[in-house]
Amino acid sequence: MPLISIQHIEKSFGTHTVLKDINLTVNKGEVISLIGPSGSGKSTILRCLSRLEIIDNGEILVDGETMVKTEQGQAVYAAKDTLQRISGKMGMVFQQFNLFPHLTVMDNLTYAPRIVKGIPEAQAIDNAEKLLKKVGLLDKQNMYPSRLSGGQQQRVAIARALAMEPLIMLFDEPTSALDPELTGDVLRTIRSLAEEHMTMLIVTHEMAFAREVSDAVVFMSDGVIVEQDEPEKIFTNPQHQRTRSFLQSML
Ligand SMILES: Nc1ncnc2c1ncn2[C@@H]1O[C@H](COP(=O)(O)OP(=O)(O)OP(=O)(O)O)[C@@H](O)[C@H]1O
Ligand SMILES: [Mg+2]
Repeated sequence: MPLISIQHIEKSFGTHTVLKDINLTVNKGEVISLIGPSGSGKSTILRCLSRLEIIDNGEILVDGETMVKTEQGQAVYAAKDTLQRISGKMGMVFQQFNLFPHLTVMDNLTYAPRIVKGIPEAQAIDNAEKLLKKVGLLDKQNMYPSRLSGGQQQRVAIARALAMEPLIMLFDEPTSALDPELTGDVLRTIRSLAEEHMTMLIVTHEMAFAREVSDAVVFMSDGVIVEQDEPEKIFTNPQHQRTRSFLQSML
């Protein structure tokens, strides 16, 4: 079953069309990686899913519910309560960790579950402890984000997104702001989510990682999806010259 269905979406900034007829499906339990050169529109797709950008045209369904569709050439978004329900199904992790700097690690994890979902404090703490254990940071629960390494902050950001119990996780280059020696722990965390069959859409420049964890790899260039296929095919036998030259440049 598709948890995310993107159909024919278009997005322009002024006269610059950055997404052209994008079609993308993410089924339950699938890990899809989005790769491609800088400026190809990868982040814009994730930003359209999280409604940080408004699409011009096309349709997006999440878990079978219509977030936006097009009527008479106009994108029409669902009602506020539907949009809120849909947003609650997606957790997003950015390149910059965006933790609340004035809250401890524990409070970063329990804040939204308590305020947005009304989960009782004891239960929110219990849940947060399990998640911190999972990302290997239970001992940091009383620290402030500024005292943690970038890799640790990113793992807290992942745990914080998971605390809202999303159906789908969206990652936008989760390791590209990190020193190389810190990327391993973050990638391990994402890999363990893949092993638990968390549905994920991951924008990444880590080609070896994309090849290893993904069910499918989507290559974008200049606002279009050039090709999508299983990782072995994309990495060993790409069908398009643009894919080949991009992969060559990533070696
Ligand atoms: N708010 C904006 N206003 C104008 N142009 C924008 C805006 N956001 C993105 N763009 C443009 O849209 C295009 C796609 O940007 P996007 O951030 O999606 O690329 P990307 O594939 O994520 O690149 P990178 O790998 O560098 O992160 C770029 O040309 C970018 O300059
Ligand atoms: Mg980007």
